[in-house]
Amino acid sequence: MQKTAITAAEIAPVLANRWSPRAYDVNHTISQHEQLSILEAGRWAPSANNAQPWRYSLATRGSELHEKIVSALTGFNQAWAPTASALLVISMVNQKADGTPNTGALLDVGLTAQNMSIQAEELGLSAHMMAGFVHESMRAVLELADNLDPVLVISIGKRADASVLEGPAYEREIAPRTRFELDEIVLHGKP
Ligand SMILES: Cc1cc2nc3c(=O)[nH]c(=O)nc-3n(C[C@H](O)[C@H](O)[C@H](O)COP(=O)(O)O)c2cc1C
Repeated sequence: MQKTAITAAEIAPVLANRWSPRAYDVNHTISQHEQLSILEAGRWAPSANNAQPWRYSLATRGSELHEKIVSALTGFNQAWAPTASALLVISMVNQKADGTPNTGALLDVGLTAQNMSIQAEELGLSAHMMAGFVHESMRAVLELADNLDPVLVISIGKRADASVLEGPAYEREIAPRTRFELDEIVLHGKP
């Protein structure tokens, strides 16, 4: 299913065509090259002071870690995410070198996550970000050190037909993508 964004002016095709599916092809496996390519895209994201406060946990379907990450997701996400070829957890370094809280690091995590999502799209794959997980469970599953907080899970895989889903996940899969109009969000300087 294509859900290309309707825009007032042309944007990069990879941005227009990206969307967050929940129906994944359970027979697709992600190659080592694709995994490396997505990790590299994340690594080369910009960050404040080039601090790179992100750490990655990548698990392919069929692995013990993939199952454990699924177990830490909230119920709705558990209904569809297990079929993703890979699950990637991004954890954030929560302290600066001087021991003070790393308050800005969430912005950097967002940038690395989007870099990875766009790279997945570029590879012909689809990514879906999830904040819906139980933090303490994820922390335990990944055996994270105290200076790391799990922030985001990204599912990555090959899109499948919406009919593989049921219930609310199916309804959301076939729903059109929506956004506020520019008039609603541009406070100053709309062309
Ligand atoms: C930080 C963040 C957290 C999200 N968490 C979830 C989630 O837990 N479960 C889910 O199904 N979708 C989640 N999403 C996906 C959003 O619902 C989705 O990006 C939004 O509806 C726009 O749809 P699109 O990405 O297809 O354009 C999350 C997205 C972001 C950026």
